[in-house]
Amino acid sequence: MLIAQISDTHILPKESDQPAASLRADCLRRAVADINGQKPDAVIFTGDTTQHGSPEEYALLRELLAPLDAPLYLVPGNRDNKDALRTAFSDHPELPDSGDFLHYTVEKHSVRLVAIDSTSPGERKGRLCPLRQAWLDGVLSEQPDRPTLLFIHHPPFDVGDHYVGGYRRQEESVALADIVSGHSQVIGLLCGHVHWPVETRWAGTEARIMPSIAVDVRKGVDETEANGRPIYFLHRLLGATAIVSDTRMVDDQKGDSDFKCQVK
Ligand SMILES: [Fe+2]
Repeated sequence: MLIAQISDTHILPKESDQPAASLRADCLRRAVADINGQKPDAVIFTGDTTQHGSPEEYALLRELLAPLDAPLYLVPGNRDNKDALRTAFSDHPELPDSGDFLHYTVEKHSVRLVAIDSTSPGERKGRLCPLRQAWLDGVLSEQPDRPTLLFIHHPPFDVGDHYVGGYRRQEESVALADIVSGHSQVIGLLCGHVHWPVETRWAGTEARIMPSIAVDVRKGVDETEANGRPIYFLHRLLGATAIVSDTRMVDDQKGDSDFKCQVK
């Protein structure tokens, strides 16, 4: 199974006169075209799809994502508006059409996907309240032997000096680690939010943070090499429990990833 991950596109309205508006739209357009060339089985979008969560931004987002061939699975970021996102993607049956949380599981692939909602309205930091903790522990308990990949916007761990105390309540990020470490079928956690590429061990599994697709807010990438090209991740399942994560630079005529890292 091949999974493409994109994150933090921060799309602005089509009518915006900000220079970043056309740049960010172009980044996503190029990423989508490149992803189609890789023929993944699924595309995971780890939040901050839009800048302000407005219907106009979601309208452009839908337009830019429409050419995707593979099924698309989204979780909200702190920049998203859950109701507007739900409305814009009302044809996505996996997205709950009511309730406070946009979390769900996807059962139709060889790897089980679990989307975790770490957002709360008006809150920049991550949240995983007791209701969501119970939901996650419950769904992971349902299928303890099936390889499972988690995705979420807010990383539940610090990243050097760049991202410290990313959850409003530290006990909630600790609870997330406790839950995941109790379920050995979890093969990885995919995150966004920091705009900075990171790979680390966490809670007995491997975690990855995607840099932002929007290149004007991207950090931690060698821009002399990337040269303004959008970057996304390709996660390839090897056997039942191993994933190799490649970083893909869009428009790379060589067709090769620039590094490879063993997730598990
Ligand atoms: Fe972001």
